[in-house]
Amino acid sequence: MLFNKERIHEWTTDQLFASATLGTYQTCGICIPFFHNWRQTFTTVTCHPKAFEHILRTRFNNYPKGPTWKNTFHDHVRGSQGTVDFTKENSGSRLSKLKLIPTLYNWVNPTIKNGLLPILDKATKQSISVDLEDLKIRFGTDNIFGLALGKKLKTLNTQVTPEDELVALAIDTTIKSFFKRLFYPNFVLNFMRFFSIGSEQSLKKSLQVLNNYITESLEERNNRNDETFDDYDFLWTLMKKVKVNGPGHILSSSDIMISTIVDILLGDHNSVATSASWFFWLVMNNSHVGKKIVDEISTILKKNGGKDGDGSKITNSIESPCGEETQEWIEEPLSYEEINSFVYLHVTLLETLRLYPSFPRIVRYVTSDDILPGGTFLDDICVCGEDFLEFKPERCLSDDETKIERREDGYMIAAFNGGSRTCIGKYLSFLEMKSAASAILLRYKLCPVLGHQVVPKPFFTLSMKNGLKVNLKRRDLAAIL
Ligand code: HEM
Repeated sequence: MLFNKERIHEWTTDQLFASATLGTYQTCGICIPFFHNWRQTFTTVTCHPKAFEHILRTRFNNYPKGPTWKNTFHDHVRGSQGTVDFTKENSGSRLSKLKLIPTLYNWVNPTIKNGLLPILDKATKQSISVDLEDLKIRFGTDNIFGLALGKKLKTLNTQVTPEDELVALAIDTTIKSFFKRLFYPNFVLNFMRFFSIGSEQSLKKSLQVLNNYITESLEERNNRNDETFDDYDFLWTLMKKVKVNGPGHILSSSDIMISTIVDILLGDHNSVATSASWFFWLVMNNSHVGKKIVDEISTILKKNGGKDGDGSKITNSIESPCGEETQEWIEEPLSYEEINSFVYLHVTLLETLRLYPSFPRIVRYVTSDDILPGGTFLDDICVCGEDFLEFKPERCLSDDETKIERREDGYMIAAFNGGSRTCIGKYLSFLEMKSAASAILLRYKLCPVLGHQVVPKPFFTLSMKNGLKVNLKRRDLAAIL
């Protein structure tokens, strides 16, 4: 493992393939007497959907996140959702999930129009390449701050303020410092923590920056003292909830709110950008998939697009297949309803997440001995079909290709975790990815920069080590009608 630490994701996948029951293997680490509990050195690694279901849903209570996870994130804030076990609800977030999704769109839409597209336009005109992964990270950061705090960062702008830059950097440093913790033995980590040195010092500072920023936002909101304003964001949801259910003044629960907001910011960081980057990479390398997506976008635009979006537009668009009609398509990003009607784009994202899950490892601890549902070589292959290594979005489509088909084995794609602790950002992520993907693919043809190597980076997320460098060319919309 040590020899393969730079290609840890690929190495783990190789081990899973090499295992006798394809999909699950057991291994053990080095047990240092007095420092380790010998039982903790045994690890079972699985990518088997039935095992996922067993761990994440059926015997959920037997598999907490465990001491390593808690030790890694414990000081991020008291009661942080990411480290809490066995609670079914996420601090009211699930309750507000449905209302927040359209709200996210109100943040995403201007970020696409005023942040992302101008950068891509400029790169196209000047024929320079862009790092799509970096742009997607900044895109995700700007949106999530808007959604979480009602205060968007503007890291995509050319004139990003020093404050925005500091906060964006703080998120990045926090995640990187948490990751470093996984490599230190406990006694070294405790020493570094106690004397606040190395990555522990950076972590302390970056958490302080985040806490200050969130506290300021909380106070700003609190000072507005206006029960009727309708800015709908995560902070506002929490404030209302605490006001209704909590004892006394809102700030008495500020710790919980800060921790929940930090959870949201950290949960989002890189995850959507990672999936979107692999999506674009796969689409660039499978042009037939890209073509089908663009066809789907244009079909939806022909049906719903235009100023009023009523049925009469359909005939008009088809009869006058280029010029003004298509110009209208690219003036504004797609509407919330249009984004939601994508089927092929959605299954392509699902297939991307099956092959390249943003969080390639979900770590769980076992509280009492258990037996995982077994699987033979053949069973495993049958879960996704013999072509399970192929990028094939159609596998999640109904036979007539009009609907997303829920597979018998719902845990075939466990990229968002499962059971009652499914990622709370799941629907938001799809909305964000579909909005950005459709906006980009409708306007540009992408091709990878020659010689640019796309390889995964060893990290919490399956980010790309060298980013995703692409060249862009304006798409001729008349040609797709
Ligand atoms: C493609 C994008 C995303 C993927 C693949 C993803 C995946 C996951 C996974 C696998 C977990 C479980 C981690 C574990 O228990 O070890 C998780 C948890 C979580 N995610 Fe996401 N996530 C994504 C986007 C987001 C976004 C946009 C947000 C913010 C709104 C978010 C917020 C969270 C939070 C707060 C948790 C902890 C939830 C809990 O423990 O109950 N995620 N996510």
